[in-house]
Amino acid sequence: MSLQERANFGSKLGVVLATAGSAVGLGNVWRFPYVAGQNGGAAFIVCYIACIVVLGLPCMISEFIIGRRARSNTARAYRRLGGRRGWMLIGGLGVLTGFLITGYYAVVSGWCLQYIYASLTGRLHGDPQYVRDYFTTFETDPLQPVLCTVLILAATHLVISRGVRRGIERASKMMMPTLFVLLLLIVATSCLLPGAERGIAFLLKPDFGKVDGDVLLGALGQSFYSLSIGMGCLCTYASYFSRETDLAGTAVKIGAIDSVVAVLAGLMIFPAAFSVGVEPDSGPSLIFITLPNVFHQAFASLPLLGDAVALLFYALLSLAALTSLISLHEVSTAFLSEELNLSRHRGALVVTVSTAVIGAFCSLSLGGYEGLQLLGWPLFDVFDFVTGQIFLPVVGFLTCLFVGWHLPDALVREEFTNGGTLRGRLYGLYIFCVRVVCPVCIVLIFLHQFGVV
Ligand code: PHE
Repeated sequence: MSLQERANFGSKLGVVLATAGSAVGLGNVWRFPYVAGQNGGAAFIVCYIACIVVLGLPCMISEFIIGRRARSNTARAYRRLGGRRGWMLIGGLGVLTGFLITGYYAVVSGWCLQYIYASLTGRLHGDPQYVRDYFTTFETDPLQPVLCTVLILAATHLVISRGVRRGIERASKMMMPTLFVLLLLIVATSCLLPGAERGIAFLLKPDFGKVDGDVLLGALGQSFYSLSIGMGCLCTYASYFSRETDLAGTAVKIGAIDSVVAVLAGLMIFPAAFSVGVEPDSGPSLIFITLPNVFHQAFASLPLLGDAVALLFYALLSLAALTSLISLHEVSTAFLSEELNLSRHRGALVVTVSTAVIGAFCSLSLGGYEGLQLLGWPLFDVFDFVTGQIFLPVVGFLTCLFVGWHLPDALVREEFTNGGTLRGRLYGLYIFCVRVVCPVCIVLIFLHQFGVV
């Protein structure tokens, strides 16, 4: 495809909403609030925002620069700018990471769909043990979760195959505002419950004593994942940005939206949980076991309202997951269609089918077919670990070296300032972070994960 023909986003709002759609995902809802509440509340939030500024934004801008400059899929973008075939490996690893994550992210996204159905049909009523059993039975069923995975991938496929403007941009413009409205509705309902103040205090009361090196490194890792860095998503989307898009300004907006959603997610979960005296946790068990209980108990006198809140909550989660899934799918679709000269439809179909197979294996490894293990771990956990803990920081690290030390400074500056039309006052700070601060932080996060520091 020639440069002129290449698709692009039609408006600034489209750029921001689509990219924010990638960033806002399950990570915002199931991990951030819990970690913040446990680790110093508002003090943690301040540190987290500092991590976003120092690590997240520079990495995000770097991916934007590569994508928009090269105007091609992630693997080719690194080769085109790097000058040698070898550089393709970094981009290629990004594409592979995005591809593998699509499969297992779709599994959890599919669970959200199932829970929309469950709340619609009033299946989440009952004592805590019943709700726990409902999830375990569902999760280990050989058929149902696989069907849900296929369903959400089919929805993703539908959007992707309509193209960048008519598919991704239009869907993001509808889904993201809906997501915000749902979020605000649930936050308001949750904060009006009796005893909600204790939940708000848990999330927001600052306690700087709790923020130590461990917590800080955790916050760094979370900021990385939450902004969708290191998986080719940002680079691919940036290849559809126009020459006028202010890359740094866009990154700041995405960082702000992502952080606000994460904090609001906390204000949705904790007030309700504390009002019924339930200790919140994180991960799938928070979303699929603890919260259904909380909604059920908090609205015990008005069960219909409880069902409605649960329904809105799972609709919100499904939207958040879907917009992230779309960005992940697009990485591989752009790669296949450009590298193998496939039509967009064909490329998307290959990605949908292959990620559905990966998703099915991941899902079955959780109980439907326990033989699907590697070194004693279910395939699902292996994918999560290898992509999130290994590939992601490696791609992020190499990207910083690529932009900070390999690309000519003039090229990076030109992209940062849109050819000199923007003042780019923060360029010096940005390039210092990319050259020194980010690589050091990423190595620290990496070593920390393996218990070395
Ligand atoms: N940022 C998403 C979240 O917070 C996860 C994600 C990572 C999505 C990478 C797409 C790409 O859940």
